Amino acid sequence: MPTPVPDELRPSSRLLLGPGPSMVHPRVLRAMSTPLLGHLDPEFLAIMDELQAMERAVFQTGNRFTIALAGTGSAGMEASLVNVVEPGDTVVVGVNGVFGGRLADISGRCGGRVVRLETPWGEVLPLERIEKALKKEKVKAVAVVHAETSTGAQQPLEGLGDLCHEHGALLIVDAVTSLGGVPVEVDRHGIDICYSGTQKCLSCPPGLAPITLSPRALEVASARTGKVQSWYLDLSMIADYWTEGKRVYHHTAPISMVYALREALRLVLEEGLAARFERHRRHSAALMAGLLELGCTPKAAEGHRLPSLNCVVTPKGVEEAPVRRALLMESNIEIGGGLGPLSGTVWRIGLMGESARQENVLAVLGALEQALARAGRNVKPGAALSAAAASYR
Ligand SMILES: Cc1ncc(COP(=O)(O)O)c(C=O)c1O
Repeated sequence: MPTPVPDELRPSSRLLLGPGPSMVHPRVLRAMSTPLLGHLDPEFLAIMDELQAMERAVFQTGNRFTIALAGTGSAGMEASLVNVVEPGDTVVVGVNGVFGGRLADISGRCGGRVVRLETPWGEVLPLERIEKALKKEKVKAVAVVHAETSTGAQQPLEGLGDLCHEHGALLIVDAVTSLGGVPVEVDRHGIDICYSGTQKCLSCPPGLAPITLSPRALEVASARTGKVQSWYLDLSMIADYWTEGKRVYHHTAPISMVYALREALRLVLEEGLAARFERHRRHSAALMAGLLELGCTPKAAEGHRLPSLNCVVTPKGVEEAPVRRALLMESNIEIGGGLGPLSGTVWRIGLMGESARQENVLAVLGALEQALARAGRNVKPGAALSAAAASYR
């Protein structure tokens, strides 16, 4: 029996307002469909140089080692840890959501002694707790999640780099849900290793992990006594491909993804970082004003609330999954549910990159209002949209 050949692909045009991926600009999709070059073609190498320069601008760093790893955000997370953590090293990890938990998990898999600084989900880690941990013993690295996608909390980074360096530790920061949506100031905050993913505020399909390492981090990585346990993510070998004048083959670069990220970064820089951050803030404020009218409450405290990922506790008495399913099936809008202990209790609405637009805020509020009304909830018609509109004025 011959294998039946499915029809040509025709995915639905969803409005992606979940925790990622986000909407992608047509220019990015167009870039992906341009002709492939070889991964050692001088024309492609020049494209890589351009991409690196733009990544430095978005990470706000002068770090020479600023590249895009093949793989999603998790590849960035894993590379950040496997290259510096050796068996017996102490790693202090802020755990206030799913992704802090993963940082701790990977650190342990590297043979590190993990000090988990647990904080209730939705809260951020006070600097004093990190200081206390650093004073207690010799720490190799401190790892925190800047934008905790599972809770919508934004970790303050002010003073953290200096604190880590005073104690001889590296600072590793997960900027997967912040890069391109809220300021990520690698040099000003003294971040030694910072990584992200393409599919969030950079509005590019998933597939690359932008990552930058300070000279201090490179020194620590090169002073390792043992080999990096991951061959694929060994940055010392990958560096030889990204370094001008070397260009040694390690693995075949995902050419079309590099094109896509180059175009996505062009869009970010054309808009300007300050304008982009303000756009995320403004639309998040309007969305939150509308969500409050629908009976939702923000999971993170004001002042630590992430504009790119709006995590709200669902209205009392409402079963959240059917409402979310109705949004997808009837309005073509994707939003996220809760992870782990927040499962069934929150919605996570991403306003990242191209998704952070007024029409999208109004569309999701309108669709939620309808779905809640149909679920039997007493909602005042138009109140959420009016509150959002007022926030825009
Ligand atoms: C904060 C954070 N870190 C890491 C990751 C992992 O990224 P990916 O799913 O692209 O591998 C995610 C994904 O949502 C994330 O939100």
